[in-house]
Amino acid sequence: MIPNKKQMDLTCGCRDAPPLVSSLLGLATLGALFVLDLLTILKHHRVFSANLISHTYTSPTLLPTPVQNQKIFIVAQFWTNAHIISERWGQALLDLVGVLGKENVYISILESGSMDNTKEVLQILDGVLEQNNIPHLIVLDSTTHADEINAGPLDEQGTPRQGWIQTTTVGTQWGKELRRIPYLARLRNTALKPFFKFHDEQEQNFDKILFLNDVVFRPQDVLTLLATNQGSFSAACAMDFHLPPAYYDTFALRDTEGLGTIQTTFPYFRSIESREAMLKGMPTKVSSCWNGMIVMDSAPFYEGLRFRGLSDSLASKHLEASECCLIHTDMNVTMPGAGNRIYVNPSVRVGYTVAAYNTTHADPDESFVSATQYVTGVWTNRLRRSVLARETKMMKEVKRKMARWVKEGENSLEKREENGELCTIDEQHILIWNGWKHV
Ligand SMILES: *[C@@H]1O[C@H](CO)[C@@H](O)[C@H](O)[C@H]1NC(C)=O
Ligand SMILES: *[C@@H]1O[C@H](CO)[C@@H](O)[C@H](O)[C@H]1NC(C)=O
Repeated sequence: MIPNKKQMDLTCGCRDAPPLVSSLLGLATLGALFVLDLLTILKHHRVFSANLISHTYTSPTLLPTPVQNQKIFIVAQFWTNAHIISERWGQALLDLVGVLGKENVYISILESGSMDNTKEVLQILDGVLEQNNIPHLIVLDSTTHADEINAGPLDEQGTPRQGWIQTTTVGTQWGKELRRIPYLARLRNTALKPFFKFHDEQEQNFDKILFLNDVVFRPQDVLTLLATNQGSFSAACAMDFHLPPAYYDTFALRDTEGLGTIQTTFPYFRSIESREAMLKGMPTKVSSCWNGMIVMDSAPFYEGLRFRGLSDSLASKHLEASECCLIHTDMNVTMPGAGNRIYVNPSVRVGYTVAAYNTTHADPDESFVSATQYVTGVWTNRLRRSVLARETKMMKEVKRKMARWVKEGENSLEKREENGELCTIDEQHILIWNGWKHV
């Protein structure tokens, strides 16, 4: 039966509208709202894509003035990465120096205990850097994970070494195991040694420190990262991908409210400030990030900032935090306000494989979020925010354990304070001879 138009219009204002008509009207309103929402989101997607491009810098001459000719200290650490370095990373580094200018950079690479021919590959790179007069120091350390572990939890005088904790694993060599994070923090500080040496000798000061993982990157990615927020930041991170569209580094990324990401795909964040900036495709404020490639302001390091892990007594409670997150919460203490100038720059995407890099630069306009992914992302983010509690079970557990740790320490000599709660998760990472493991 065809509804009578006139009759429907008349019934509109009536108090006793027939149920069918009012539910049809309800559906029509919902449909209209849905379409309106969809159109608004699609409009935002166009702004997002345009912003990604307008914040991309392909040549050093286009960089904002404060960023031009900055002195950059480049740091990388390797363990068993021969293939990656010889296939692509070494060349990418040389390309980068070609763009930044060798007078503006110093390269510090630390390798230790690799189980493949990383040392040989780095020796070749060392030769190339030497030939081209590019300032650098490549340290090849023969200490393996096995050596670190075999050294045992006590030193020659019988005093306990740092970084060893009691775990639940039975039948370990020493009854204690060696933590991974303090070990990594120590390596990172070692790789920074030339940075401080220059400072002591007053020879050269650096504006920025660039930490590079074994990622796929192009020179323009580093230029764009340096230009984040016109070069005004305490830290600027790329986004990193192993299996896109999911991002990779969940261990160190926290939004402006100190929360871990609410989803591994776009737009990632829960806090309104981080989420809205990401949705606009703008440099996004966060409390902590690393993401495979990060540029940090050198000033806090000159003020004494160093990498570290949680204390052993706290880690013994089955807690751990990335040294790459703690560096941010510590930086905020070393230089008050620095914690408010940390950005993730969505114009910079790096990959752990060439395929991952390509996928996140695939569009003609090199965007990494299609209109469909954008719309789906906005909707799933809304849904997750309304369903999932802000404070997760894990966060409550961390808070409880930290409070107990402080309380138990009231009578001990150890000063029990930890400003890295937002970094802390309910995990234990232990070094093993051929890598590391959870316990
Ligand atoms: C930085 O320190 C301020 C003041 O102590 C604090 O309010 C803020 O949450 C900190 N930010 C981060 C990212 O740690
Ligand atoms: C990635 O993109 C480059 C440049 O377009 C191309 O040469 C290469 O074959 C691609 N590699 C993969 C694994 O997709």
